[in-house]
Amino acid sequence: MILQKNKLKNIVIIGTGGTIAGVGEAGNTSSYVAGQIEVNNILDAVEGITKLANLSAENIINVDSCDITQEDHIKISNYINELSKDDNIDGFVITHGTDTLEETAYFLNLTVKTNKPVVITGAMRPATATSADGPLNLYQAVVLARSEKAIGKGVLVSFCDCIYGARDVHKVSCFRVNAFDQKDFGCLGYVRGDEVYFYNESIKLHTTESEFDLKNVQKLPYVAIACFFADADVEILDYLSKTSKGIVIAGAGCGECGKIWSKKIKELVKNGFPVVRSTRVASGLVASEKSVNEYGICAGTLPPHKAHILLSLCLTKTNDLEKINEIFKKY
Ligand code: SIN
Repeated sequence: MILQKNKLKNIVIIGTGGTIAGVGEAGNTSSYVAGQIEVNNILDAVEGITKLANLSAENIINVDSCDITQEDHIKISNYINELSKDDNIDGFVITHGTDTLEETAYFLNLTVKTNKPVVITGAMRPATATSADGPLNLYQAVVLARSEKAIGKGVLVSFCDCIYGARDVHKVSCFRVNAFDQKDFGCLGYVRGDEVYFYNESIKLHTTESEFDLKNVQKLPYVAIACFFADADVEILDYLSKTSKGIVIAGAGCGECGKIWSKKIKELVKNGFPVVRSTRVASGLVASEKSVNEYGICAGTLPPHKAHILLSLCLTKTNDLEKINEIFKKY
C-alpha cells in the first residue's frame, strides 16, 4: 500500500463491486452486469479526485452486492481493523452495490474498532450509463472520508449529496439516483462541493463503543427472517426454529402477527429460542410492554435485515433473551 507523506490526507479505497463497477450497453441505465470494473479503473473516471487526498485503491471482492455473504462482512471488517492501526492512514471509502449496502454499513458500524472515517458509497447507474452517478458519489465519499468532521461519527453512507448514518440508512428507491434516506430521521448532513456539513448524529452505540468483537469469530450464528402476511403458514416458524439459531419476524404494523403465529412465537421464546419482532412497514417503532418471554425481543426502529445482523452478533456473546433485548435498546 503506497501512501504519500504530504499535506493531503491518506485515504484507502476498498472496492467490493456493485453497479458502481457495472458495465452494460453504452448509455443504457438499466441493462448491465454489476461488479465488473476494478476500483482503480472507476477512480480513473472521477475528474479531480486526486487533488482531494492521496488515494490507494484495491478490490477485496468484486460482486453484485446480493452475493455478499456474512463471511465477506467479516473480511471487510477485519481488513479495516488491521489497516486502521497504521497511523499513516486517515480514512476509508468502500465502493459497494446499493442493494445490500445498508447491511454491510450496519455490520461495519458494529464491528470496526476505529474512530477514523469509514464511508460507503455506490451508484444506481452503471459506469457505462449516460450520466452515471458513481463518479460524483465516489468524489463526495472521499470529501467526507478526509474530513475531520467525519471522525468518530460511526460508519457513514455518502450518496447523492447526502450523508447518512449506517444504523438508520435505508434504500428507498430501486432505480432512482436519490436512492437512500433515513425516513423519520432525515439525513445527517450534506456534501456540497469540497465541503462537508453535518446537522445530526446517531446516539446509538457504534465502532469504538461497540461490544462486538470479531477477533475469534470466523462464522456468525445463522439467523433467519420470516415475513408475516395475511394467512401466512405457521409451519415456516417450526422449520426455521430447527434450521437456525434465531428468527427475526418481519411483522405487520408494530411487529404484529396473527394469533397462530403469536402463539408459536410465545412457545419459542418460552423455550429460550431467540425471536426478534421487527416490522415490514417502512418506518416506525416496534416496542412492547409485554415481557420478552411472552412477546419476543423488540427491534425498535431496526428493519428486519438490520435486526438480523444485530441478532447474529448478539448470539456470538449470549443466548439470554433478556440480555439480547437490552442490547437491542443500545444499538
Ligand atoms: C448491487 O447491489 O450490487 C447491484 C445494484 C446496485 O449496486 O445498485
